[in-house]
Amino acid sequence: MSKLEILKYPDPHLHEACRPIEEFDDELREFAQNMVETMHGAIGIGLAAPQVGDDRQLLVADLSVGQDPEAVLVLANAEVELEEGEIRGDEGCLSFPDLVLVVPRPAHVVIAGQDLEGNPVRVEADELMARCLHHEIDHLRGVLFIDRVSPLKRDLARRKIAKRIRAGDW
Ligand code: NI
Repeated sequence: MSKLEILKYPDPHLHEACRPIEEFDDELREFAQNMVETMHGAIGIGLAAPQVGDDRQLLVADLSVGQDPEAVLVLANAEVELEEGEIRGDEGCLSFPDLVLVVPRPAHVVIAGQDLEGNPVRVEADELMARCLHHEIDHLRGVLFIDRVSPLKRDLARRKIAKRIRAGDW
């Protein structure tokens, strides 16, 4: 296993829509393992393939941040099948170090996808896990959490980021 480099905003890869996975082979499984290791190394609860410069629809999540091997979820070709309710909550993203935004997300989601063998998988999630999966699926469409806040807050965040980039603190 090896850690991958996490791309930071405004890397253009982060704005691209990913392609569906058609080959469920050893290379994909090894890549998924590397993504899990990268997420754990960065103390994150979710990571999507475009964040490490890959254009496949793959995401990993682990609310236990490496404490519980059974909590690791790897999903290929994930899409939101159903979403209900809305919760506004603090949110971060490994491609935006130390930036926290209040983002509205569904309170409950049903996600359809595939496991690493290509078998269909359905995942129901609430609250933080719903937020995490919704955020990662956004990444697969080239949508970032700053795209989910008001234009005013987006502008503020962009200015803060530009300042930190200039200061070498990004
Ligand atoms: Ni993210």
